[in-house]
Order: sequence, then C-alpha cells, then structure tokens
Amino acid sequence: MIHSANFHHRDQHYKTVFFETFGCQMNKLDAELSLGLLQEEGYKIVDNVDKADVILFNTCSVRQRAEDKVYSHLGALRILKKKHPDIIVGVLGCMAQKDGEAIFKRMPHVDLVCGTRMFSRLPELILKIRNHGSHVIAIDEDHIVNIKRAITYRPNTYQAFVTVMRGCDNFCSYCIVPYVRGREISRTIEDIKEEVRALISNGCKEVTLLGQNINSYGKSLNTTTTLGDLLSELNDLDGLERIRFVTSHPTDMSRDLIRTMSRLEKVCEHLHMPAQSGSDRILKEMRRGYVSNYYRELIHFAKEHIPHLTVASDFIVGFPGETDEDFQETVQLMETLRFQNCFIFKYSPRTGTRAAELKDDVPDEVKKSRNLKLLELQKRISLEKNKKLIGKQVQVLVDGASKSDPNRLSGRTRQNHIVVFSGSKDLIGELVDIRIHEVTDLTLYGTLKNSPYPA
Ligand code: SAH
Ligand code: SF4
Ligand code: F3S
Repeated sequence: MIHSANFHHRDQHYKTVFFETFGCQMNKLDAELSLGLLQEEGYKIVDNVDKADVILFNTCSVRQRAEDKVYSHLGALRILKKKHPDIIVGVLGCMAQKDGEAIFKRMPHVDLVCGTRMFSRLPELILKIRNHGSHVIAIDEDHIVNIKRAITYRPNTYQAFVTVMRGCDNFCSYCIVPYVRGREISRTIEDIKEEVRALISNGCKEVTLLGQNINSYGKSLNTTTTLGDLLSELNDLDGLERIRFVTSHPTDMSRDLIRTMSRLEKVCEHLHMPAQSGSDRILKEMRRGYVSNYYRELIHFAKEHIPHLTVASDFIVGFPGETDEDFQETVQLMETLRFQNCFIFKYSPRTGTRAAELKDDVPDEVKKSRNLKLLELQKRISLEKNKKLIGKQVQVLVDGASKSDPNRLSGRTRQNHIVVFSGSKDLIGELVDIRIHEVTDLTLYGTLKNSPYPA
C-alpha cells in the first residue's frame, strides 16, 4: 500500500473507484448497476483518476473510433500505474467481451477484463486481483445478469433507465452487438414491475425501458408476452408519469404495439426507430429485413394513430457498395419523413460480422461528405419543425440545471425535445407547462406558465 501524502487515502479501508462509460445507454445503465454493487461493498465513487484505487472503463465496440478512444485512455494510465502499481485498472463491457486476452497483450498494465455478462461479479474479481495480483479475465457467456435495482447508484432521481431485455438476435450485417452482447433474454414482467415500483417509491416519475431490439421483448420468455403487455402493466402503476422505450426495429415493430402506445396515456409520443438507409439494395445487404417503402408506411401509420408523435432515426453512410444513387435515396427518405433528430454514422467494418467480408470500398472523404450532407439536412429539418412550436405550450419534466446555463433549468417534453427556461430549483423533478418563444435546431427556449421570471 502507498502512504505518500498525495495518496494516503489509497488503502484497503478506504476504497475509491473512478468509472467512465463509453457506450450506449445500455452500457451506461450497466455502469450504474456496477457502481451500485461497489458502493454496497463500501467503495466511494470519485470523479478523478488521481483519487482512485480502482479505475474502470465500461467500453463500446460498435465503431472503430469508440475502441480507439478507450485504448488511448488506457494508454494514458500507464504512467500512473507505474508510479502506483497497487491501483487496479479494469476494462468492462463490449470491448472486453470482444477482445478478451488481447487487451492484456496490448495493454499489460490492465489488471481486469470483465465482459458484458459478468459485471455482477466485479467486487469478487477486484478482490481476486488484490489477493493474487495477476491478470484476471471474466468473459463467461452463459452467466445471466440480474442485479436487484434497490442497490443501484443513480445520477437522477426523477428519471431512470430500466433494462427489460439483453442481447440481440437480429444480426444486421454491419453490427457487432449480437456478438458482444449475446442472444436475446427478456426479464419477466413481474421482475420489471418490482424494479419500477421501487424506483417510483424513490421519487422516479419517468422510466425509459432499454433493449437493443426492444420490439422483440417477451420472445425468449416462452409465453405470449409482448412489449405492449409490459407497457400496459407499467401504465397502471400509480406515481409513474411517463414511459419511454428504445430502440425499435422496424421489422419487429407491430401495428398492435402502435395502437397500444396510442391508448396508454403514460407512454410518450416518441419513437427511436433507425432506418439505417433509404436504398433497398443497401438495406438488403445490411440484412435489415425491410424495404424503404415498408418503413415509410410504418411511420405514416404510427403518425396517424399517435397525434404529435416524433421519430428519431439512425443512418449509416458509406456501407460497402453504397453509390451516389443509393445515398440520394437516403437523402430522399430523410426529406420526406422529416425526423425530429437523427444520428448519422460513417460505416466502420467490425471483424467477425458479415459485412466485414465485403470490401470497405467507399473512400473516407466520401463517407465524410455524405455524413456532413445528412447532418446539414437534418439540422435544417429540425429547425423548421421546432419553429412550428413557437407560441405553443409544452409539458416538461424538469431534469435539473441547464448544462449551457446553470442559472436556468432544463427538461424534456413527452416528444423528447430539450427545453430550457428560468425557474426555481424547487421545480426539479416536477412536471411543468412551458410556453415556447425561441428555438434552435436542438433546443426549445420558453417561459413557465404564470412565471415571475423574465423570458
Ligand atoms: N439496435 C441498437 C443498435 C446499437 S448500435 C440500437 O439502435 O440501440 C447504434 C447505431 O450504431 C445503429 O443504429 C447503427 O446506425 C450504428 N452502427 C452499428 N454498427 C455500425 C458500424 N459497424 N458502423 C457504423 N455504424 C454502426
Ligand atoms: Fe445491431 Fe441490428 Fe441488433 Fe441493432 S438490431 S443491435 S443494429 S444487430
Ligand atoms: Fe457499444 Fe456495446 Fe452499446 S458495442 S453501442 S456499448 S451494446
């Protein structure tokens, strides 16, 4: 143990952990669950690696850039680890699952590699390293994660993410997720309800249900249970105000579910349903299981049945073989469907996937320029759509201080717009009505109804 002036807190009686997450929402929630476990074991969470006995990175493999970022963060810890060899450095999550032992080879100062289904064992794995001091790896694929939520660390009391299923069986040709997260496993409605009830009694008003492919919730349960059933049951829970769910896959999105959404008052009018491309040829190569007209009709049906519905989408540009014509079809889809917002990614080959066998033949400059074009198009559309909200009143769940202006508050509408306004901190966690008077492509600005504050 080190007892220098700077590091006097680094001893076994005072355990500190620094944690950073690189991946999607599901990864962020896994991080919260892990931190909850460690807190139960007496660990204190710190916001700086210099104060930490244990440094953990929860990692992502979805694109090369996500991995490069983690390796560069890990590389930067080499010096710290040399100075203080008792610090434990761990790599968790998707990249740990995918790269396994190779992480130790590339980064020998890493002590722990812990995959996507093993983080409930974190406390004992850390202890193993403390006692035996060697490289420890845990990437067992059969282990089922089920951590009771009561002990979870949560950054926001009013809003919570809840995992309802893990894994993905879709195998879109470009995607690594099914390989690193494994097969689809749904939790039972009873399990989920128990967790949501505990969250509500702890002050939670909004839950976002998480699944990589959430429309196939229930399939692994050997019952007829569907996502619609789960939504209906949660809708009945007193104290809960809003329910969201991500991410929807067009192929598994049933019209029944859309009808159920429109019937349940707590389910928010928002869908995140990635299109990925507007070209039927590319969609086929991507193994998405639909053509662009199917997607268009699905969105029209949803908008017809759910008034004020907003839709977010994801697109990949520069998939192998994507021509200018293919790309134009994506542009057209975006122009006609007018999404609320879109996430746009440059194709990144992932070893082991089907698409990785195709030649990555779209030059990076072309990927970049297509990416930029879609971003600009979406920015214009978002601004035009937001302008229509000027003068309108929206309901906002207040999250906390605005990131860009700590003197103001920020929150989200049911349609998932970010709203910034002035108000007392007492309003945090409340549902308030805001009149919109100014917008950008990303944010709405407004005033509280009957507000004593200037606009
Ligand atoms: N079904 C999950 C997908 C997670 S990955 C979900 O939507 O939450 C999120 C997005 O990353 C995908 O929708 C896709 O647009 C993008 N993506 C996945 N694999 C990719 C790759 N190899 N290259 C570029 N983008 C990718
Ligand atoms: Fe990946 Fe497709 Fe599964 Fe989403 S649905 S996680 S894009 S394989
Ligand atoms: Fe990344 Fe794993 Fe999520 S690969 S996108 S962190 S499921």
